[in-house]
Amino acid sequence: MLSPTCHTADLVVFGGTGDLSMRKLLPALFHSDLEGRLAPETRVIAMSRGGLTDADFRGKVDAEVRSAVPDDADAWQRFLGRLYHVSVDVGGEDGGGWSSLVKMLAGHEDRDRVFYLASPPMTFGPFCRELQEAGLVTPRSRVVLEKPLGRDLVSAQRINDEVGEIFDERQIFRIDHYLGKETVQNLLVLRFANAFLEPIWNSLWIDHVQITAAETVGTPGRRGYYDQAGALRDMVQNHLLQLLTLVAMEPPARNDREAIRDEKVKVLQSLRPIVGTEVDRFTVRGQYTGAGDMPSYLDEPGSTPTTEASRRVETFTAIRAEVKNWRWAGVPFYLRTGKRMPYRRSEIVIQFKDVPHSIFPGGTPNRLVLRLQPEEGIELHIMAKEPGAGETLLKPVPLSLSFGETFAARVPEAYERLLSDVLGGNPTLFMRRDEVEAAWRWIDPILAAWESSAELPEPYPAGTTGPAGAHELLGRSGRAWHDEEA
Ligand code: BG6
Repeated sequence: MLSPTCHTADLVVFGGTGDLSMRKLLPALFHSDLEGRLAPETRVIAMSRGGLTDADFRGKVDAEVRSAVPDDADAWQRFLGRLYHVSVDVGGEDGGGWSSLVKMLAGHEDRDRVFYLASPPMTFGPFCRELQEAGLVTPRSRVVLEKPLGRDLVSAQRINDEVGEIFDERQIFRIDHYLGKETVQNLLVLRFANAFLEPIWNSLWIDHVQITAAETVGTPGRRGYYDQAGALRDMVQNHLLQLLTLVAMEPPARNDREAIRDEKVKVLQSLRPIVGTEVDRFTVRGQYTGAGDMPSYLDEPGSTPTTEASRRVETFTAIRAEVKNWRWAGVPFYLRTGKRMPYRRSEIVIQFKDVPHSIFPGGTPNRLVLRLQPEEGIELHIMAKEPGAGETLLKPVPLSLSFGETFAARVPEAYERLLSDVLGGNPTLFMRRDEVEAAWRWIDPILAAWESSAELPEPYPAGTTGPAGAHELLGRSGRAWHDEEA
């Protein structure tokens, strides 16, 4: 059945033939179409400099996307029929080529209009201004901004100002695809629909929290972007801090867009700044070196030559953060992300304190693990007795809930949920301006200290769990990363 929130829309994707569009957006839109969440007249209009015709673009999507989505010939043909291509050449002779888009959208002012900017952040302001000058921004328009939103607080504020001159905050959807992941949304349900967790969700019961996003991939072909970004900007400023806010936030009064985002922003504003010499104590950065057939970061096939920035950029980082409020005082939040790690795994680990007095030898688990990927689910690691008539031997065992198995349903990709929300006009899972800026405010001093440091990132061999410093960060207080315990 068609969701009541899905009005007829024109979704205009800047960078519409690029990697994000082909790998994530179009498959997500096809799934939405298949499940009846796109209104029959909704169109997807890809903008690029490619000079493609509609037929060329449909052919490209057919060749590159079809094998990645369920096989349903009728649905696929219907979906292809929604796709259009418009060439744009910003700064070009006919004023950027907006006239083709104007023609395409003319007569459809009553539709929802979504401009999805999957383009570099410096284009956000100019694109919005040009859209307005071309008369394309209607009261029913929305704009979606892909990360990264700037490269520090000042540039983020500038982008927010520029976009804010054209669109109201309620029309701006800043995407962080981690918020579209099932486990992330389930975290809110787990915390606020189950009474038993709340009494122990604080510094009296929780020893520390670990938030990890480990990837096996390197950065081939992404040098131009990654040299300028690094793991801190690419993953921590957005994805990891968003996860931290959901773990640490107070219960909102209502399940609504502003109530939830109000609580999240309070967490970001409560992060204890890491400044000056503390940066060396509480942060670690690393860069992978070659191992086996895996090249080093500097040897990754990339589009741009190695520079000083390439040598200084971190492909791994670990940080000990603290949320300074009554609930969390003294509880470290360890954040960690890296490329070319031995496995792909994103998870949140809540480590509860040990029993106050143990009558058995051995101990620990008391641990809740929220797995975002590869298999979305929740595990409660408890101590159990190993079966046997002899001495009582303890063994940590997980009680597991796999969303895939329990609900016997396909777990949708993050972009499916987020695109549905954009088309339905629901911004709850998108970052508000103050959230993005509060996150940068915390990140900036770390960046500044790293940039002024004479040290390079610590090397770690590709395929390992990061540099020695990452282990020391926890080891100093007798802790260890969840996946590295003996
Ligand atoms: C993106 C980063 O935001 O997230 C990439 O730019 C990273 O560098 C990706 O690989 C990870 O997303 P996921 O969903 O695979 O964990």
